[in-house]
Amino acid sequence: MADDTILISTEGRVATITINRPDKLNALNEPTRAAIVAALNRLEDDPEVRVVVLTGSGEKAFIAGADIGEFEGRAPVAQYRVMNSPATNAFEAADRFPKPIIAAINGFCLGGGCELAMACDIRIASDKAKLGQPEINLGLLPGGGGTQRLPRLVGLGTAFKLLYTGDMIGADEALRLGLVDEVIPAADLMTRVKALAGAIATKSPVALRYIKDAVRASVRAPMDEGLQLERTLFGLVFASEDKAEGVEAFLQKRKPDFKGA
Ligand code: COA
Repeated sequence: MADDTILISTEGRVATITINRPDKLNALNEPTRAAIVAALNRLEDDPEVRVVVLTGSGEKAFIAGADIGEFEGRAPVAQYRVMNSPATNAFEAADRFPKPIIAAINGFCLGGGCELAMACDIRIASDKAKLGQPEINLGLLPGGGGTQRLPRLVGLGTAFKLLYTGDMIGADEALRLGLVDEVIPAADLMTRVKALAGAIATKSPVALRYIKDAVRASVRAPMDEGLQLERTLFGLVFASEDKAEGVEAFLQKRKPDFKGA
């Protein structure tokens, strides 16, 4: 899609999607969400890309939420259509994306921004980041999965507190609560995220894919179904060339070279 609301760059096997509306603190309007979905669809099919990083442009924000300007005067039926269109549902697209996806939270991470970060697999935050679900202050509730993903990450009581108050929390508090997985000095954020993404990108793409399928099932399916899926995928991964390469490389005391087959 010819669109500068997002930028896409690739270094080695890691692609970075940068939300590029810094004058609006990277707020997610409809074209931006559509561009994210289109980019993820394209990166899914690109065999050279093994890990994706999502971040925001500028010094100030990851994503400061949905673009509030789009809400004024919008009819419920129009909003319902937008909420249910796969073409603009960046949250589901990130969640279902079959390769590892890491949020590099470089500033304000609010509302839909926090929801998009929660739909990613791993969240690494700058020490300057501020996170929250302020929808309540607009008389709204989160519509990008926040009421479902937040309690799964931080527990019911903390989720209710954040959702009821709309309060912002700092990166260290978010780490303590389990909302982010690491906090890094702002100047070093992208170096750390790219090192992590690069390390994951050396692993077997087949095994990464199956790990993602199994872990996603852990928050959706009953335990017995999840365990059965894990055992099935464990059997299936034995059919991969990557498994043969990984085992052989270990036994030959060398580094594996995974091809994703
Ligand atoms: N939607 C649309 N525009 C937004 C936005 C959003 N979610 N968040 C910020 N912006 C815009 C501001 O309107 C402003 O635009 P302008 O320069 O044309 O007036 C610009 O981004 C800079 O934001 P500003 O509010 O001046 O920065 P700040 O440092 O004073 O405050 C925030 C930063 C994040 C605290 C504040 O912008 C804010 O509260 N944003 C809304 C967060 C929110 O409620 N998100 C959930 C939406 S459902």
